[in-house]
Amino acid sequence: MSSNRLFSFLFLLVLPFSSSSDTTSWIKSGFWYAGSVFPTPEIPTMYTHLHVAFAHINTSNFEVFINNSDEPYISTFTKTVKQNNPSVITLLSIWGGSDESPDFFAMTSEFSRRKSFITSSIKTARLYGFQGLDLNGVYPNTAANMTNMRTFIEEWRTTINSESNNSLILTMGAYYSPMLDQSMKYPVETIVRNFDWVHLRSYDYYLPSKNNVTRAHSALYDPSSTRNTDYGIKEWIKNGLPANKIVIGLAYHGYAWTLVNPNHNMVGSPARGPAITSDGSSINYRDIKGYMKSDGAILVYNSTYVVNYVTNGPLWIGYDDVEAIRTKVSYAKDKGLRGFAAFQIPNDDVDWELSKAGYIIILCKSLL
Ligand SMILES: *[C@@H]1O[C@H](CO)[C@@H](O)[C@H](O)[C@H]1NC(C)=O
Ligand SMILES: *[C@@H]1O[C@H](CO)[C@@H](O)[C@H](O)[C@H]1NC(C)=O
Ligand SMILES: *[C@@H]1O[C@H](CO)[C@@H](O)[C@H](O)[C@H]1NC(C)=O
Ligand SMILES: *[C@@H]1O[C@H](CO)[C@@H](O)[C@H](O)[C@H]1NC(C)=O
Ligand SMILES: *[C@@H]1O[C@H](CO)[C@@H](O)[C@H](O)[C@H]1NC(C)=O
Ligand SMILES: *[C@@H]1O[C@H](CO)[C@@H](O)[C@H](O)[C@H]1NC(C)=O
Repeated sequence: MSSNRLFSFLFLLVLPFSSSSDTTSWIKSGFWYAGSVFPTPEIPTMYTHLHVAFAHINTSNFEVFINNSDEPYISTFTKTVKQNNPSVITLLSIWGGSDESPDFFAMTSEFSRRKSFITSSIKTARLYGFQGLDLNGVYPNTAANMTNMRTFIEEWRTTINSESNNSLILTMGAYYSPMLDQSMKYPVETIVRNFDWVHLRSYDYYLPSKNNVTRAHSALYDPSSTRNTDYGIKEWIKNGLPANKIVIGLAYHGYAWTLVNPNHNMVGSPARGPAITSDGSSINYRDIKGYMKSDGAILVYNSTYVVNYVTNGPLWIGYDDVEAIRTKVSYAKDKGLRGFAAFQIPNDDVDWELSKAGYIIILCKSLL
């Protein structure tokens, strides 16, 4: 039996037992970006936790706010998804700002600003029925900023815990590795004490706008570089984040390069910049599947990196298909990690293939 068919078979077999405690204690989470093409949350029910992205920081009063255009979706999200999946837990993800998280560090620099953020974050979560809050896209870049970040995290958790009737889950979205550059590292000890878990951005390691060589942007392994998920996770653990607080990131998108020579079409082949999108931005799995079906397309799974790629003439797209997702989820389970976080669910295909792939692996592993 091929592994595809074996998994389909096991899926049917185990479905009635899918509420066993071993499978539910694992976090199968995913993001829903409000600005995405499908703002109405028709979400498959295999997820245990859903992060709604993003709320922002108002840089004049330092309160958390939801953009007017996102408000209709974010405010009704929890109610909508719970109709199909009453046990799903929703969290509101708050964005720290662009590249160096300026909004976040401006907020953390003064007590009154932190208080304003903390109070409004809790109020917003309660108002819309979120059971947790997520801090995302924060990359400390100076020692002073790091100190403020520590203080903020402690205050946020203390305030939330003081509401002893119904505490909120607190999660953090972090870079794939704790080392931000040679001298800067996340405040791991503070993070361990105060966040329920950390989900890693285990992707976007290479971009066609920056690399003129085809690359596995979400490589699980890479023999020639430290930009890979396995390396990052080992570094987090070495620096004190326990495996059971680590949630691996899964990308439901890929990147397209234009090959210099269509006959040289492996990982590491010369390219002349992006394909499909002129700025090299990501291509969602739903659309990649369209390119996979076109005449002459060659599909490859490379287990050295754990990447799928599809090539057709000079077009080359590196992404995670079902095989890569399965291998990563399996890895996460074997290493004792807490779960996975997909970015982002609407990028999956119409049959939710990637969502199912991760889910089935966990069901099978809990049985075998
Ligand atoms: C940000 O805060 C200022 C000052 O309180 C307020 O006037 C403005 O409307 C807020 N902006 C948003 C988007 O909430
Ligand atoms: C809010 O939405 C508008 C479009 O409706 C967009 O131009 C703007 O960038 C958004 N702001 C944030 C902070 O997302
Ligand atoms: C913190 O980071 C911000 C944004 O990158 C920067 O503008 C600011 O100078 C930093 N603050 C300190 C105290 O280093
Ligand atoms: C929890 O307690 C606080 C303070 O007593 C109250 O304002 C809040 O509404 C309570 N939350 C829930 C969900 O009961
Ligand atoms: C994966 O790709 C690398 C580089 O292109 C190649 O050297 C290696 O043999 C491939 N591995 C597999 C298992 O296909
Ligand atoms: C990639 O190659 C193209 C064409 O040779 C060139 O215009 C572009 O600047 C290169 N980009 C990078 C990031 O090296």
